Amino acid sequence: MRWLVTGGLGFIGSNFIRLALRERPGLSIVNLDAMTYAGNPANLRDVETSPRYRFVKGDIGDPAAVDAAIGDGVDAIVNFAAETHVDRSILDPEAFLRTDILGTHVLLEAVRKHDVARYLQVSTDEVYGDVSEGESREDDPLRPRSPYSASKAGGDMQVLAYWTTFGTPVLVTRGSNTYGPYQYPEKLIPLFVSNLIDDQPVPVYGDGLQIRDWLHVDDHARGILHVLEHGALGEIYNVGGGNPRTNMEITQLLVDGCGRSMQAHVRHVEDRAGHDRRYAIDTAKARAIGWAPVVPFEDGLRATIAWYQANEAWWRPLKSGEFLDYYKRQYAHR
Ligand code: DAU
Repeated sequence: MRWLVTGGLGFIGSNFIRLALRERPGLSIVNLDAMTYAGNPANLRDVETSPRYRFVKGDIGDPAAVDAAIGDGVDAIVNFAAETHVDRSILDPEAFLRTDILGTHVLLEAVRKHDVARYLQVSTDEVYGDVSEGESREDDPLRPRSPYSASKAGGDMQVLAYWTTFGTPVLVTRGSNTYGPYQYPEKLIPLFVSNLIDDQPVPVYGDGLQIRDWLHVDDHARGILHVLEHGALGEIYNVGGGNPRTNMEITQLLVDGCGRSMQAHVRHVEDRAGHDRRYAIDTAKARAIGWAPVVPFEDGLRATIAWYQANEAWWRPLKSGEFLDYYKRQYAHR
């Protein structure tokens, strides 16, 4: 078995590669990653010398790079490569359209050309848009509201159109908010934890009563592996943690976990433009094929805080250079 994983130096992709190599002894993986700001070789230090792992630097939008990574052929492609941060998509949408839509198109063409048996698109619950009540199901209409989620929805639509039009063997997973080790410190949890470790304030957007459904990265990676191996072709599977929390609840847990105080550290700042209030997904379909999340949220969050406390050498270099420019652009005016 040989799989091409794209974007495998990112947060969820690197956790997926580590899991798949550990649990599938006959498997080898080629990782194609463009090494943009969030693609970090340090995420896979522990597997980079494995004879079953090969890294190729390249962009999924470049057909020649994709062909080279596929080489003599692969049995499956799992596409993690994406621009993923909503706030960055508000500052600079174009990169999102290029990677999340056009990059997906290049991969789908490669699946056809090389006769790849399975293609899995890693997507997001954000494509359903703001859900004021109830839980989104896989056949609900897509109502993305940010340049990021609209780009991911565009990718999903291409994937599903290839299934309908060409019979391309595709699967889509839509994950909820993911947390755990190796997450780039621009996202809520790693940003707040690393700020709190440094005794810095944490910027809560608006009233902080927005709701996200939190999923540990190990559960997410297992969900993707499970759908890849057991999902029905042409189908979409929601992969959610079942842990709805407001951002204020998360902030309280992080502040307590880091031994800081809400009063001294929380700053309510100007809200995100077009901020989705709530996401919630129904995961019955993934459960029906045998997947379920197993990490209890409070345990997973405690372990994640401990990981960032123990791995300053991993995140500290990331909070420099480009990140500081971004942080200023994103937060200074707030
Ligand atoms: O739902 C799945 C999605 O979850 C993924 O598709 C995205 O790639 C991932 O980034 C995440 O999107 P969110 O926008 O929900 O994640 P983020 O960590 O940026 O923000 C989580 C919540 O926290 C959101 O309501 C905005 C809020 N927030 C975020 C940041 C970075 C703050 O209040 N302050 C902040 O500084």
